[in-house]
Amino acid sequence: MQIQNPSASEEMHLQLGPFQGITDVYFRQVYMKYFEGIDKLFTPFFSGIHKENSKNLRNDEIKPALNNLSITVPQLLSNDAEEIIRFSSQCSALGYNEINLNMGCPYPLVAKKKRGSGLLPYPNMVQSMLEKLEGRLSTKFSIKCRLGYHSPDEIDELIPLFNNFDLSELIIHARIGKQLYKGVPDFDRFKAVISQTKAPLVYNGDVFSLHNLAEYQAKFEFISSWMLGRGLLADPFLPSDLKKIEIVEKNETRKDKVRLFMNELYQLRRETSKDNLSVLGRMKELWSYLRFSFDEPQTVWRLVRKVKNFPEYESATDEVFNELHWLGTGYTRKNESQLIEDQQD
Ligand SMILES: Cc1cc2nc3c(=O)[nH]c(=O)nc-3n(C[C@H](O)[C@H](O)[C@H](O)COP(=O)(O)O)c2cc1C
Repeated sequence: MQIQNPSASEEMHLQLGPFQGITDVYFRQVYMKYFEGIDKLFTPFFSGIHKENSKNLRNDEIKPALNNLSITVPQLLSNDAEEIIRFSSQCSALGYNEINLNMGCPYPLVAKKKRGSGLLPYPNMVQSMLEKLEGRLSTKFSIKCRLGYHSPDEIDELIPLFNNFDLSELIIHARIGKQLYKGVPDFDRFKAVISQTKAPLVYNGDVFSLHNLAEYQAKFEFISSWMLGRGLLADPFLPSDLKKIEIVEKNETRKDKVRLFMNELYQLRRETSKDNLSVLGRMKELWSYLRFSFDEPQTVWRLVRKVKNFPEYESATDEVFNELHWLGTGYTRKNESQLIEDQQD
């Protein structure tokens, strides 16, 4: 049976994927001020919603005044129906109309507890969790998952369960949990899922350039919604380029815009954290991706990674913007191994 996927007839729809430690509320706010093309955003995952009026939901990350409620979706990492219900009710009270369940996180400490992608090999647990949610949520409910944890076959048992539930959206990162972020997405398995899925389907995984998108569009009939991740962190112009929104702009002008964006984000994080030095860690995480859009990524990293205080950060980033050239569309699959090497430094 071919299920006509409802996303097929729509215009291209682009989402900003959540990144714990990077796409926090300040990133989302400043990003949306400077760049175009994103239709929907997700918070990095929340967890530990143990009671009503949870203190985990009383910070800036989810504050209605700091978020665009109509396009921001709070995400939860959980395998507990009661916690999901509490989260939905508290998000609804704050003014959000959709929540997302993280069934994709691959980290062993999470997966071991049957959460994130660690839940994917347990269809019975998923079924009983979804059954308990039936009729008890205060918001729309979407899922972000992978094709499986150990094997991409795991998705075959999950899709019928998802089809029995009124999901507002199903986002699939076309890898398995064991892969972490390495290797190639499994395009064939994703393609096979398209005709089986009732919910509007969103593709996620390695959309780094116009060239990638064209390749995936040719493979996946009926898909018009795409979640962007590392490609956007490396080049914030990616969504507007994919939608062909920007009239061609010189690379140097783009560099100026990226500089304003990075400076404003840095200042806002300092202000809101009362100059806590953890700001440097957050900015470095973002630079670990952004560097790939410069002509000399290794030089960028050498300058930025070693900074220990605010004046050092400012002089390192001034040097990057003054001396190096912006090329854009920086992320490729081979950068993942570079990132892993650098994290082990
Ligand atoms: C450091 C890091 C943190 C992430 N945090 C989250 C998260 O909180 N929730 C989530 O659903 N995905 C998270 N992801 C996954 C991304 O949102 C995205 O699904 C993944 O990078 C694949 O997309 P890409 O190939 O376009 O980068 C994270 C990924 C990385 C590398």
